[in-house]
Amino acid sequence: MLVKDLNKLVNKEAEIKGWVFNLRSSGSLYFLQIRDGSGFVQAIVNKESVASEVWEQCQKITLETSVVLQGVVTEHPKKIGEYELQVTGLKLIHIAEEYPIGKKEHGPDFLMEWRHLWLRSPKQWAILRVRDAIILAINEFLHQQNFIKVDSPVFTPNACEGTTTLFAVPYFDLGNAFLSQSGQLYIEAAISSVGRCYDFGPVFRAEKSKTKRHLTEFWMMDAEGAFIEHEENLRLQEDLVRYIIRYCLTNCQKELAILERDTQKLQQADAPFVRLSYDVAIKKLKELGSDIQYGDDLGNDDEGLLTKDSAVPVFIEKWPKSIKPFYMKRDSSNPDLVLNDDLIATEGAGELIGGSQREDDYNLLLERIKAEGLKVEDYEWYLDMRKYGSVPHSGFGIGLERTVRWITGVEHIRECIPFPRMITRLKP
Ligand code: 4AD
Ligand code: MG
Repeated sequence: MLVKDLNKLVNKEAEIKGWVFNLRSSGSLYFLQIRDGSGFVQAIVNKESVASEVWEQCQKITLETSVVLQGVVTEHPKKIGEYELQVTGLKLIHIAEEYPIGKKEHGPDFLMEWRHLWLRSPKQWAILRVRDAIILAINEFLHQQNFIKVDSPVFTPNACEGTTTLFAVPYFDLGNAFLSQSGQLYIEAAISSVGRCYDFGPVFRAEKSKTKRHLTEFWMMDAEGAFIEHEENLRLQEDLVRYIIRYCLTNCQKELAILERDTQKLQQADAPFVRLSYDVAIKKLKELGSDIQYGDDLGNDDEGLLTKDSAVPVFIEKWPKSIKPFYMKRDSSNPDLVLNDDLIATEGAGELIGGSQREDDYNLLLERIKAEGLKVEDYEWYLDMRKYGSVPHSGFGIGLERTVRWITGVEHIRECIPFPRMITRLKP
């Protein structure tokens, strides 16, 4: 029996298997807080009504001891919708050694050292589950929109997002392989086979950014579609993000309550998104007191300023091509701009998505590859798509941990992935 299903067995016998994450005794009663992965429940052992062996076993329980319990399910005397187990039988599976994570406040470094155990705490449990819900929501939405999953490689011969953040790995007699920064270039190739597709997996950036929003290994979903142009690309992104919000509000109520997330803010974000051109965004930022100049990338503070009064995420579209990657398509009404967008979430969560229409003209793309100082031979296969039935196409990449951070309201991205990889952390 799973704890989450105990409501189906009120006044009946049930057996649950899990861990004791808290315990207290008072006289002839033992209160055991049990966690089984599916939920949390209080089990009560009454000395008067259990066999003496059961009571003896109780004395041996330590924090995180694993147990099998039998008992009768009762409704919680005060909390509606919660249940308790009146224990009749108890088996200790493994008596835990003294648990290093106590009830007192621990610093983040300490908790990160013990990440493999910290994952058991209710808050981390809730984050893991919201993360899973977001993954499900993304898969579900994309399939509804006729995208299929096509996996892209992790070992790659060339850069997708600039050569400065590549991790190199010695690769037999072929020199260096690079860990993928985004599968985009590969799924662009696959759209000529399946029309619409996406990948979803770990990507790597040797970024020296020690912020609350950067990991060196994170998960990205790249989506790409043939015959999708800029406008439709933005619409898809908005629909996806709003789908994620609704999915989590419906399926993660308990988790968001544990995380003390203000769900009203999320509800409000499920409304038409704001759109600003880069040009207007820069003007607005200057008005708001930023010292940003036209041609600069947006920093964390700028993103915060632009969204601080917005209840919904904000698209910043049509950036100068000089500060964006080689593959983005020029805006026909101003060739210095590209048909791209960054989607900035509310409440200071920062950029969730980067997307664009792709350059589909062979010569213009070749020119951009050369201008960026990239080796043409590395991109020949990518240029080939512009030789054999080139089509207008667009896509975008959403950062999973950024999205988890926004939906959960967690302060630091390191809690949004089970085992974070950062510049100064490779363990556990
Ligand atoms: O904006 P980015 O760099 O876009 C791309 O990689 C495109 N190739 C995607 C595409 O068009 N298919 O990255 C996409 C998203 C960002 O918006 C952000 O959410 C996340 O990936 N991201 C990071 N997340 C955590 N740590 C980092 N160091 C990240 N860098 C980017
Ligand atoms: Mg970006």
